[in-house]
Amino acid sequence: MNSPILQKARTYEAQYGEAIPASERPVYHLTPWVGWMNDPNGFSFYQGQYHLFYQYYPYKTVWGPMHWGHAVSRDLLRWEYLPAAMAPDMPYDKDGCFSGSAAELPDGRQLLLYTGVCKSEDLNPEGHYYDIQTQCVAVGDGVNYEKIPQNPVLTVKDLPEGYSKYDFRDPKIWQEPDGTYSAVAVARTEDKSGAVILYHSPDGFEWHFVTVLDHCRNEHGRMWECPDFFELDGRYLLLLSPQEMQARDEFHAGHATIYLVGDYDPETHTFRREDVHLADYGIDFYATQTLLAPDGRRIMTAWLQTWSDIEDKPQGAKWFGQMICPRELHLKDGRLIQAPIRELEAARTNRVYHENVSVSQPTTLEGIRGRVADLTVNVAPDGELYRSFTIKMAADGEYYTSLTYDTYTSRLTIDRSHAGSHCDFVHSRSCEVRRQDGALKLRILLDRNSIEVFANDGEQVMTVWLYTPQSADGISFSADGKVKVTAEQYDLSF
Ligand code: FRU
Repeated sequence: MNSPILQKARTYEAQYGEAIPASERPVYHLTPWVGWMNDPNGFSFYQGQYHLFYQYYPYKTVWGPMHWGHAVSRDLLRWEYLPAAMAPDMPYDKDGCFSGSAAELPDGRQLLLYTGVCKSEDLNPEGHYYDIQTQCVAVGDGVNYEKIPQNPVLTVKDLPEGYSKYDFRDPKIWQEPDGTYSAVAVARTEDKSGAVILYHSPDGFEWHFVTVLDHCRNEHGRMWECPDFFELDGRYLLLLSPQEMQARDEFHAGHATIYLVGDYDPETHTFRREDVHLADYGIDFYATQTLLAPDGRRIMTAWLQTWSDIEDKPQGAKWFGQMICPRELHLKDGRLIQAPIRELEAARTNRVYHENVSVSQPTTLEGIRGRVADLTVNVAPDGELYRSFTIKMAADGEYYTSLTYDTYTSRLTIDRSHAGSHCDFVHSRSCEVRRQDGALKLRILLDRNSIEVFANDGEQVMTVWLYTPQSADGISFSADGKVKVTAEQYDLSF
């Protein structure tokens, strides 16, 4: 039986979500049915389909008491909305069903492990009512879910001594080869920074503490959010989204997603971290979650947004927030390599190809334009090494977003300062591209309200949203010096 709060959300989204014309959404990036979306949740393959739930407030395009929105897909690109899976309707989650994940039970039901939030009745030392965050379970058939009577299944009592009672959330579950379940969640240690805790359960319902996998120690942000932990090409990866990072080396100030690479001993449950890097060098990328596809691929999704720039909403928009185009992950020389899921190739139509075009002055190429496209650009010096190379995208007389590669600094910069924003926040980011010879390969996915750039076969990735008019669809190339450009573009049709 649906609670009145869930029923209200389901009725609302069916009416107002259905009323949003497809032309007002991206084509292959998931947006909320209606209203607000943040983190991906419960990203899983269940009963022949991919399921993607999301942090959801249907009634407005702002964050509110969190529900779980729900969509399914067979190719991770064309999504069908299902009714909201959960609403904040129990005493232990009345202020929000926060982020979590999904697994399949031996009897074929789907289990959702999530954070229930309710406000405290007492005040914290700063004089505020605080969030009581606990881990809770709901079980269902892929459409309807029941929260179990034993909830919550993990509370602050399951944290190591001295840990904060205010932050304990975002459980990511997976099934072990022996059929039992493990999960990682984040908490805050005595030094006020984040930690990732490993829990174990024989059946998905009864959980116990195993170990602290890693600590932030105030080095990479303060609180950590949305952990994920998995084996990738023989090593182990801990994916995390830190809040309040301080700028240092490749890390920028604020919110970001990082990965810790290391080794893991399953006997002693010891994770030995070796290295830390940013997962995406653009502006809008946060709260990743992965799944293991039936064919063995590790596939990642993320919120194509961060908390720092949520105020910049298109006027009159009926939805806010979108997910990235899911990415296949690999590890090479200790670095994450990301590629758009191969399913995208089946959607390619209308190939346009230009080979070895000499470029210096701003140049447009016949047929290379658009806001929904899969574009690959190979750049090489034409004679001497060039100083810089620029692509302008989503451009018209007024707007553009640019991508510039500077061979002196080996840095690639994405800049959407001229993409119509009226807000005073970060519009440009850059990263080091490890090439000396000026050869650069860029795969660029455009989808109405976003650009994802994969440099040199996914060694670096940069993601940004943009809310410019769709008529701003020009693409041009220019160089300081001389380059040879080979460009291949496909339209994407679903
Ligand atoms: C990350 C996050 C999570 C939390 C959720 C609430 O973006 O802050 O830690 O569960 O969003 O919507």
